[in-house]
Amino acid sequence: MLKQPFSLGSLLLPSNVFCAPTAGCSDYAFRKMVLQYKPGLMYCEMVKMDALIRHDPHTYRLLDYSKDMHPIGGQICGSKPSIAGKCAAIIEDLGFDVVDLNCGCPVDKVTKDGSGSAMLKTPELIGDIISNMVAAVKIPVTVKIRAGWDSEHINAPEIVKIAEKAGAKAICVHGRTRAQGYKGPANWDYIKAAKEAANTILVIGNGDVVDGESAQKMFEHTGCDAILTARATFGKPWLFEEIYQSLLGLQEKVYGAQEYRAVLLQHLEYITSYQCEKRALLDLRRIGCWYLKNSRGAKELREMLTKSKNLQEIRGIIEGYSWDRIDFSAAPIQEELECSTC
Ligand SMILES: Cc1cc2nc3c(=O)[nH]c(=O)nc-3n(C[C@H](O)[C@H](O)[C@H](O)COP(=O)(O)O)c2cc1C
Repeated sequence: MLKQPFSLGSLLLPSNVFCAPTAGCSDYAFRKMVLQYKPGLMYCEMVKMDALIRHDPHTYRLLDYSKDMHPIGGQICGSKPSIAGKCAAIIEDLGFDVVDLNCGCPVDKVTKDGSGSAMLKTPELIGDIISNMVAAVKIPVTVKIRAGWDSEHINAPEIVKIAEKAGAKAICVHGRTRAQGYKGPANWDYIKAAKEAANTILVIGNGDVVDGESAQKMFEHTGCDAILTARATFGKPWLFEEIYQSLLGLQEKVYGAQEYRAVLLQHLEYITSYQCEKRALLDLRRIGCWYLKNSRGAKELREMLTKSKNLQEIRGIIEGYSWDRIDFSAAPIQEELECSTC
């Protein structure tokens, strides 16, 4: 159940409700937004071990954060034990609080060299990599896996034991298989089985935690020590506050049109202060759609945002639009959901 604070190895985190690494999404501005609502831990999007080692500037930029953005976790992805320790040490030297190993990414260009979820096929290699990471750093090492490669090869419990033996402090289990990608519901029985296999290692449950109710169910169904949420945070950085209020039995703050407008404007400021104009415009069109996806009557605004040509125009649209025409308490109708950007 909810713990505030929560111990992870030598760290004392604000809670056991974590924000997931999401490539292309959990960028600097997104993390700055979410951290206001105090997740227990915020992971950066994954970086490739090979790119870290060759000091690729784009890769280092993905790891940008400011002093007020702790606690923060860096996630590395790769399948070579020989460089894993060095990469973990780079993450530690950059000031990260936690270093995580990605064993869940399903995309072909990652799995083709045996990295990401392909590591589920070589559990002993996961152990070797974690051992080298643990030996190289003082910060807690965590690992993020899927339940298995496919439903015929569920091996999360086996990997839990291997990761524990290798010295990882926590293992995050996404209750989908690699074959599922992101489709279909996560199977929380797989997370429960992983927790039952754990002795000292903490188990973080992941998949389909979208609100306070599902957070509570995840804790109850699986017995997991912490939870991690990904897609539900897109366009809802306050999800952590909502989950805390719900789990503590407090009155939940309701976000209406004016709150959405204010939060989107703040996200805009964070993006524009960090990105160049061209990149900021692309990010804002996408992020605008995130904030409008769970509402009724937002089609017109969404179209205006996607067609906007520069930052001044996009800011003017957000500031000048009559947001009270949008109903954030109602689900969108199908025809409203068409959007080429999101
Ligand atoms: C756009 C996107 C990018 C993702 N990038 C990463 C990543 O960099 N590292 C990782 O371990 N998982 C990544 N994931 C997986 C999520 O962290 C999470 O495990 C998955 O979305 C299930 O959680 P959810 O049901 O709360 O979305 C990504 C997921 C999405 C949708």
